[in-house]
Amino acid sequence: MRCTTLAILTASALSAQQSAVDAAGSYAAAIRSLGTFFLILLGLIFLIVIALALIPLTRRHRGIEQEPLEQTHQPSHGTETRLGTMVGIATAVTILILFGLVVASVSVGKSIAGPSTHANSIAVEITGNQWWWYVRYANLDPSRIVVTANELHIPVGRPVMIRGSSNDVIHSFWVPNLQGKRDLIPSRITTLWLQADRPGRYRGQCAEFCGLQHAHMALWVVAEPAVQFESWMTHQIEPSVAPSSPDEQRGKEVFLNSGCVLCHAIQGTPANGQVGPDLTHFASRMTLAAGTLPNNKGNLSGWIADPQTIKPGTKMATVPVKSEDMQPLIDYLESLR
Ligand code: CUA
Repeated sequence: MRCTTLAILTASALSAQQSAVDAAGSYAAAIRSLGTFFLILLGLIFLIVIALALIPLTRRHRGIEQEPLEQTHQPSHGTETRLGTMVGIATAVTILILFGLVVASVSVGKSIAGPSTHANSIAVEITGNQWWWYVRYANLDPSRIVVTANELHIPVGRPVMIRGSSNDVIHSFWVPNLQGKRDLIPSRITTLWLQADRPGRYRGQCAEFCGLQHAHMALWVVAEPAVQFESWMTHQIEPSVAPSSPDEQRGKEVFLNSGCVLCHAIQGTPANGQVGPDLTHFASRMTLAAGTLPNNKGNLSGWIADPQTIKPGTKMATVPVKSEDMQPLIDYLESLR
């Protein structure tokens, strides 16, 4: 019974939302197949080597009892030639296997480098920051450029080109269910292709140590059918919704009259800070502080009141907000769907 529970737990952990063995697209599947191939082949070789190493151990034990000492130390010419041949064969097999592994590795490397044609693909710029992800959907029409943070929506079945960079130190963009890692380097653009073949939410994680909150630098990739993706896109292009109650109106005034505007932008309002995440559609996002907390009113008030306790070292400033202004501010921000 315990074994069954353990098996179920392991299985559910393996199909988790951040897992390199639960491939959700062709690139991740190619990497997983390569990993499985390496694991099985090298596992077999390991077992064979251990078995071969155990044989002489048992023989030697018998040999000491049965043969005179000088004979075991002076092998005949025939034995020496045979041993030499075996070592030669083993070396040749080793070289062949290594060569085969290099060929397999290089061919998978090529297959995950991107699609043969860029038709039907979309391009997204991702910039690493200590400790959050700036996300911008490129478009030749400036009115259709979408800026968001810590959450990437992609259409199922379409290749997505990530153009990555960094604003400070080296980060690494990694969504294990979809693709391998790619470093995000300051003053440089690195590219990576993603493709999800089934809808789902896949967790990504910064994979290069980048300072105190490296572990709290997560991002979610939401892969959705074309229709849902297009409606998400259309909604993101729109400016922020207007406050629908006096309480939210008060919250908006609190936001615009505080230090928040120095770092954050809300389209459709004068707030145009470019240091922190764009908050135009803040309430539509799943998490706060780059995957640190689920996005809800309780967590948001804790985050605004004392960001350093939740994420020590974060660049998010502790902005003094009067206690009576906190609730309207939270209500306003959580209305920005
Ligand atoms: Cu960014 Cu680690």
